[in-house]
Amino acid sequence: MFKWQIDDHLELGLLEWRHAEELFAVVDANRAYLREWLPWVDGSKTVADSLDFIQRSAQQWADNRGFQACILFKGNIAGMIGFHRVDWQDHKCEIGYWLRADLQGQGIVTKCCQALVDFAFTEWQMNRVEIHCGAGNIKSQAIPVRLGFVQEGIQRQAAKLRDQFVDHVIFSQLRDEWSARR
Ligand SMILES: CC(C)(COP(=O)(O)OP(=O)(O)OC[C@H]1O[C@@H](n2cnc3c(N)ncnc32)[C@H](O)[C@@H]1OP(=O)(O)O)[C@@H](O)C(=O)NCCC(=O)NCCS
Repeated sequence: MFKWQIDDHLELGLLEWRHAEELFAVVDANRAYLREWLPWVDGSKTVADSLDFIQRSAQQWADNRGFQACILFKGNIAGMIGFHRVDWQDHKCEIGYWLRADLQGQGIVTKCCQALVDFAFTEWQMNRVEIHCGAGNIKSQAIPVRLGFVQEGIQRQAAKLRDQFVDHVIFSQLRDEWSARR
């Protein structure tokens, strides 16, 4: 299995078919907490839905549209992080993430996100990386802020979350800004 060591306890791993049961168990155990901000959670009802996500992620990678990686903490699935909307024409992409409730507050997603940002600018020669956060999702917004992203503005009613539309706060980091921070 492909793994990317982030620190002593933390790795990013390629999502494989054999992870379907463990991934579903994590989603299922964290359902009430995750559904507050992630619209796909209610649609993930069985292991087959996790398998479907793994297949779509593999297809995304095969189509050169980015990848989804599992966050492994001490060898167990702790969450997911990955790229969305990879745009090779304009050299920009977006990062998304979620983590198990019990592992919050240790900087886990900040560390993994920094690794993906570095990857985007070095390996893919991106010029711009975006992170979109729900307007009330303060914990998620703290991540791009901590990583030196600039808040650009609000996309009004950008996503449907259960029965209502929510605004998104758009953060970005440009290649020049990333270089200056290093
Ligand atoms: C948002 C979410 C990903 C945050 O995960 P996280 O790992 O706790 O986030 P961070 O990496 O930023 O951790 C920051 C916390 O760790 C602490 N911390 C400890 N060591 C740290 C370190 N080395 N670096 C950074 N922060 C550290 C910080 O003080 C901060 O604590 P606080 O939240 O009490 O202020 C998680 O809450 C989540 O998955 N929520 C539900 C789904 C979701 O909202 N996804 C995002 C959709 S846009």
